[in-house]
Amino acid sequence: MATPRQKLNTKEHKSKQKLTEAQIAVHWKEEGVFYPPKKFIEQANLTDPKVMERFSEKNFPKCFEEYAEMLSWYQRWKTVLDTSDPPFWKWFVGGKLNVCHNCVDRQLAKYKNKAALICVPEPEDEAPVAITYQELYSRVNELAALLRDFAGLKTGDRVTIHMPMIAELPITMLACARLGVVHSVVFGGFSGEACGLRAADSGSRVLVYADSYYRSGKLADHKAAADLAIEAAKREGQTIDKVLVWQRHPGKYGSASPMVKGRDYFINEVLKDFRGKRVEPVPMDAEAPLFLMYTSGTTGKPKGCQHRTGGYLAYVTGTSKYIQDIHPEDVYWCMADIGWITGHSYIVYGPLALAATSIIYEGIPIYPDAGRPWRIAERLNVNIFHTSPTAIRMLRKAGPDEPKKYNCHFKHMTTVGEPIEPEVWKWYYNAVGKGEAVIVDTWWQTENGGFLCSTKPAIDAMKPGSAGPGVPGIYPIIYDENKQEMPAGSQKAGNICIRNPWPGIFQTIWGDRDRFVRTYYQKYCKSPKSKDWRDWPYFAGDGALLAKDGYFRILGRVDDVINVAGHRLGTKELESACLTIPEVAEAAVVPVVDEIKGRVPEIYISLKPGVTTSAKEMTEKVTHTIETMIGKIARPKTVQIVPDMPKTRSGKIMRRVLAAISNRMDTGDITTLANSDIVEQIRELVQGRAVLPLQEGPEDIKRFGQEP
Ligand code: PRX
Repeated sequence: MATPRQKLNTKEHKSKQKLTEAQIAVHWKEEGVFYPPKKFIEQANLTDPKVMERFSEKNFPKCFEEYAEMLSWYQRWKTVLDTSDPPFWKWFVGGKLNVCHNCVDRQLAKYKNKAALICVPEPEDEAPVAITYQELYSRVNELAALLRDFAGLKTGDRVTIHMPMIAELPITMLACARLGVVHSVVFGGFSGEACGLRAADSGSRVLVYADSYYRSGKLADHKAAADLAIEAAKREGQTIDKVLVWQRHPGKYGSASPMVKGRDYFINEVLKDFRGKRVEPVPMDAEAPLFLMYTSGTTGKPKGCQHRTGGYLAYVTGTSKYIQDIHPEDVYWCMADIGWITGHSYIVYGPLALAATSIIYEGIPIYPDAGRPWRIAERLNVNIFHTSPTAIRMLRKAGPDEPKKYNCHFKHMTTVGEPIEPEVWKWYYNAVGKGEAVIVDTWWQTENGGFLCSTKPAIDAMKPGSAGPGVPGIYPIIYDENKQEMPAGSQKAGNICIRNPWPGIFQTIWGDRDRFVRTYYQKYCKSPKSKDWRDWPYFAGDGALLAKDGYFRILGRVDDVINVAGHRLGTKELESACLTIPEVAEAAVVPVVDEIKGRVPEIYISLKPGVTTSAKEMTEKVTHTIETMIGKIARPKTVQIVPDMPKTRSGKIMRRVLAAISNRMDTGDITTLANSDIVEQIRELVQGRAVLPLQEGPEDIKRFGQEP
C-alpha cells in the first residue's frame, strides 16, 4: 500500500448510480482509498510508521506501558498484565491512581484558565458556557464533599446517574471518581423504569437526576422518571434513599413531579453548605472498578459492564491521543451522549486526561435546523468532530449543503457506532470535512473501553465503509463457526474476535462472572484450563470481513441485538416488554433497514384467544409499553399483528423468517416449519397481495435469527 507521503492526492472510484442509503447498505463493493492531508500529518501525535512494531506481539503486554505512562500515578504498577485467572485479566497491578486527579487536578499547573468543558444549550439564544479547569476543579470538589458528607457515599459504593447532556453530568462522574464511588450512568433517553432496573442491579441507594432539559425546542420533564425508577427498583428489592436533583435553571424547578421530603434534594441548595470545600482524591488500585455501563445482550436482562480504573483510563488516554489526535490546544466536539460508552471515553475521560477542551451539546443535531452543528463548530472554532453514521445521514438528508455556508474547518473527524455506507462517508468527507479532514471510522463496543479497529489518522489510508486494521496493540482475527481462521481476502464474513487482552477491556459483568465467560470467551476458548492469554480470544459478537489490505469491514451483530441509530437494543428486552401486555400471547422482534437509523425494530405479536382489541389500539399499547419500559429510542417502526408465529416443530419462533418478510428478502427453506402455511399469510399481511420483487438484504439481517 502506498504511504500517504508518496501519494497525497485523493483517488476514488466514482459510483455512477444514485442509490438511496437503504440500497447502498446492501450493495457493497471494494472502495477506493483516500489519503490523509499533508497539513494533518505535519501536526499529528502519531506519525511513527514503526508504531505497529512497537505494539507488536513480541512487545506485548509491555507495549501498553506507553499509555499508562501518559497518566500520573501515586504508585507505579508492578505487573503490567496478570493472567493468573483467565479471562479475568488484570492490568497495571500494584499501581495506584485517581481518575479525577488525572482529568482535573494535574491540568491546573499549566491549564487552569483554559476551558475544560464548553456547554452548548439547545436554545440558540442561550450562550454557550465555558468551564475552566480551575472552575471544574472547584465544582467537582464541592460536589465530592456533598456526595461524601451529605449523601453518605463512600469508596466502592455505586450511584446511578440518569441525566441529560449538561455540564453537571461530567461533574457528577468526576466527583464520584474522586471518591472511588462507582458511577453507573444511564442514558437520559431511557425510561424511568429502565433506569430503576439498572439501579437495582447495581445496588445503588442514591440516584442523581436533572429536573429537566431541552429537546427539540421543548423543556422535557425528566425528574418524573426518578419516581418511576424508584418504583421499579423497589419491585426488584432495592431501596433508593436519596434522589439528588440538579436544576436546569438553578432556583427554578422544571418538573411537575413533587419533591419528596427527606428523599429528594436540590443539589444547588445543598451545595451552599459545601462552598469552597476540598476533598483529596482517593488513591485507587488500578484494578478498582471505575464505572458500570449497562448494555443489551441476548437475554432480557441488560449487562452491567464493569470498567477498571487504571487500564481504562490509560487506554482511553492513549487512543484519544493517537487515534483522535487530541492536543491540549484542540477544541474537540464529540456529538454523542455521555450516557453511552462513547461519551464516557471520548467526551469526558480521554479528552480531559489530555487537557483538551471538550464540548457538550444539550440538544438534537437538527434543532432548530440542519445548520446547527456547523454554526456551533464555527462559533467555537471546533477542529475535531466526532459523531455517528445516523447523525451524518440525518444531517445529510436535512441539509446537504449546510456545511458550506459556515466557516468551519475540521482537521479530524470520527464516525462510530454503526457501519457507514460509502456514499454517506463521502458526503461526510467532502461536504462536512471539505476535503481537508482526516476521517477515522472507529469500531468498538461498550465492553471494550476504547477503539479496537480504526485507521491511524496520519499513517493509514482511509477506505469508506471499512473501519481499518486493529489499532496499536489490538490483534483482531476472523473465525468461522468451526474455529478456523478466515484469512484476509477470503471474501466471506465470519466472527471478528480479538486475540489478546488490552487495558480497556471490561473486567466482568457486574455480579455475573459466568455470563461474562460464557458470552465473550466460551465460543473460541482453546483450552479452558490454560493461563495463556493466547488461548482466550475475545468474541465480539459482530460479523466482519477482512480484505486483502488488512482492513476490517464490520457487518453488524451476529446475536439477538439490533443496532438502532448506534444504540444497542436486545430483541429479548423488547419482547419481554410486549409480553407484559395482557392481550399478547407471543412476541418476536426483528430488525428492519431504515434510511436514517440504519436498523429499527419491527414487532410481531400474536394475541391470546378471544381478544377483540383493535389493531390500532394494540399498536398503541405496544408502542406505549416499549416507550415506558425501555425508552423512546426503542419505539417500533411497525407493529404487525399476526394469527400465529412461524415455528419449528419444537415450538421455537423462527425470527429469521419474520426478518426476511419485513425486509422483503428470501425466507429460505421453510419446509421444516411446523406451520409453513403461516409464512404466506404473514407475507401478505405485511407486504400486501402483490408479489413484490425480493431484495438481497444486508448481511446482518441475512444472518439474523439463524441457528449457528
Ligand atoms: O455492531 C457493532 C457496532 O456497535 C456495536 C457496539 O455497540 P455499543 O456497545 O453500543 O457501542 C457503540 C459505540 C462504541 C458493535 O458490536 N459498531 C460500533 N462501531 C462500529 C460498529 N459497526 C460498524 N462500524 C463501526 N465503526
